[in-house]
Amino acid sequence: MTAIERSRTVAVVGAGTMGQGIAQVALLAGHPVLLHDALPGRAREATEAVAGRIERLVDKGRLDRAAADAALGRLAAAERLADLAGTALVIEAIVEDADVKRRLFTELEAVVPADALLATNTSSLSVTELAGALTHPGRFVGLHFFNPAPLLPLVEVVSGFATDPQAADTAYDTVLGWGKTPVRCADTPGFIVNRIARPFYAEAFAVHEEQGADPATIDAVLRECGGFRMGPFELTDLIGQDVNEAVTRSVWESFFRSPKFTPSLAQRRLVQSGRLGRKSGHGWYPYGPQAPAPQP
Ligand code: NAI
Repeated sequence: MTAIERSRTVAVVGAGTMGQGIAQVALLAGHPVLLHDALPGRAREATEAVAGRIERLVDKGRLDRAAADAALGRLAAAERLADLAGTALVIEAIVEDADVKRRLFTELEAVVPADALLATNTSSLSVTELAGALTHPGRFVGLHFFNPAPLLPLVEVVSGFATDPQAADTAYDTVLGWGKTPVRCADTPGFIVNRIARPFYAEAFAVHEEQGADPATIDAVLRECGGFRMGPFELTDLIGQDVNEAVTRSVWESFFRSPKFTPSLAQRRLVQSGRLGRKSGHGWYPYGPQAPAPQP
């Protein structure tokens, strides 16, 4: 067992949907956790949001008061990247853009200790490519959590071309110790889940674009008959249309624009109009107090 000790600090960079969820997981597993974001004040807001979720777990009787107080005492916002010196593991959950991520990791390498593990939560970018600019790419792994991270057990542990097997073992054992179900995989486009899921979304969007059925009907069919927890339209509204489209584009580009992975025009229109899903109040469906529930 090579898991990172609970006493050591985990930093999460990118304090959005995934960063907050991952921070909550590491925190409740017993680590001190630092949250950092490029937007001033965002990390502090995110720690408050995580604290609010921990309070709700107490209210629902899923966490006792003492454990919640201890967890909250271990959580802090880091306004500067330099505040991450001393962390044992950094999990990056920033925008899905290879250049921005590579820049961040180059900066991080100069801040964290030589033995710190660097991990990316990328959904679709190449782990090998992201590690390309590092002096020590052996300690770089993919740790792909799913949304919502506190609830979904699966974590893809992705080894890039240069990943040291020991680093992958440490990452695997660490998330296993956090109560997750890690699965090892190599750095192929979309890894396992996001590659297999692409045709699922694409075919659903195509049925809609061809006026075969509306989103609520397709979602209901997959939920009721397919045994899926969510249909493709409601699921992409939860994920974020921008995030989901970026993943599709990345997988499509990686397979030399194979028609099998062609992005959807209807989804492009949603992103262009700012209808990003739940986070913007409107996606395939409207959200908010006035919004009717989707009806098949
Ligand atoms: P989000 O948009 O909710 O949050 C991203 C955060 O990163 C924002 O707060 C933004 O200010 C911050 N940020 C951007 N550039 C930064 C930089 N250079 N340094 C520090 N912070 C920076 O995005 P979300 O949905 O949390 O996704 C984050 C990552 O997780 C992406 O790589 C995405 O592909 C991946 N992912 C997303 C899933 C989802 O369902 N949304 C599921 C699994 C992975």
